[in-house]
Amino acid sequence: MSETINWYPGHMAKAKRLMLEDMKIIDVVVELVDARIPYSSKNPDIDTIAKGKSRVILLNKADMADAAVTARWKEYYENAGATVAAINARSGNGLRAVTEAIQTACREKIERDRARGIQNRPLRAMIVGIPNVGKSTFINSFAGKAVAKTGNKPGVTKGKQWIRLNKSVELLDTPGILWPKFESPEVGLRIAWIGSINDQILVTTELAEKLLVFIAGRYQGMLSEHYGIGETTEGCEHPGTELLRRIAERRGCLMKGGELDTERAAGIVTDEFRNVKIGQISLETPEDIAGYTAR
Ligand code: G4P
Repeated sequence: MSETINWYPGHMAKAKRLMLEDMKIIDVVVELVDARIPYSSKNPDIDTIAKGKSRVILLNKADMADAAVTARWKEYYENAGATVAAINARSGNGLRAVTEAIQTACREKIERDRARGIQNRPLRAMIVGIPNVGKSTFINSFAGKAVAKTGNKPGVTKGKQWIRLNKSVELLDTPGILWPKFESPEVGLRIAWIGSINDQILVTTELAEKLLVFIAGRYQGMLSEHYGIGETTEGCEHPGTELLRRIAERRGCLMKGGELDTERAAGIVTDEFRNVKIGQISLETPEDIAGYTAR
């Protein structure tokens, strides 16, 4: 895979143009990334689009990731100057820290306003992220039931809908959609593993085999615990194929002639990974992206 694979290039250009326009009327960009792949699910274009804006990074779906690795990503992005929070937009876990994160990210603006005698003007936020990262879920959970759409603001934001969250923050109600960028084959693979690109792009069995090798290497004992298989593949020419065959056997995935149905087993592995049945797994760490262009 390469960077030249793009979906909906037309939509992409339009989305970027609209986001650039909206930047003029917002104070802070709240970027959602997937906690399992905080680098690979982060679109580098946002640095250009949101240039000069305060930034908050939310590590969403933290319930699916390895908490120890998520803590390291939080530190990694904090060291890079962002305000960061780990959240679960679906359950609402961690959302209480978000308003504070937004205020922290905007403290200079708040100070500036205060110096000019402006007090308590709500901060205006835009949510951005790649498809499926949880933007709509986040907006719904964060806004909750108390939401009042403030509607058009005469003279300021013609045609824009704002969601008033509390007295401190307003959200632009349409999230900014960015598309993933494949910096390297690994980045493409990780995005495919979490299901954010069509599975057809990579063969399901290949995807599952690579995932199994990754899990066996990094989360030793997890596969044997979940599938009841041996994880040692020393001397195997194709460790991934071997692991998948063992799972097919354990799960009784057989074709008519009695041969192992590894394609079905691959579907099971992919589904169980995406439903967090195998375990809470982070697919990349800050060390894994050493040498990549910073995002
Ligand atoms: P988007 O607007 O960025 O495209 O994403 P959206 O909110 O539609 O979320 C995509 C999927 O991710 C949804 O699942 C949503 O429930 C799930 N999701 C969002 N945030 C979290 C989170 O923090 N943790 C977990 N575990 N899941 C999260 P879905 O299967 O597509 O729909 P549904 O099962 O919720 O109906």
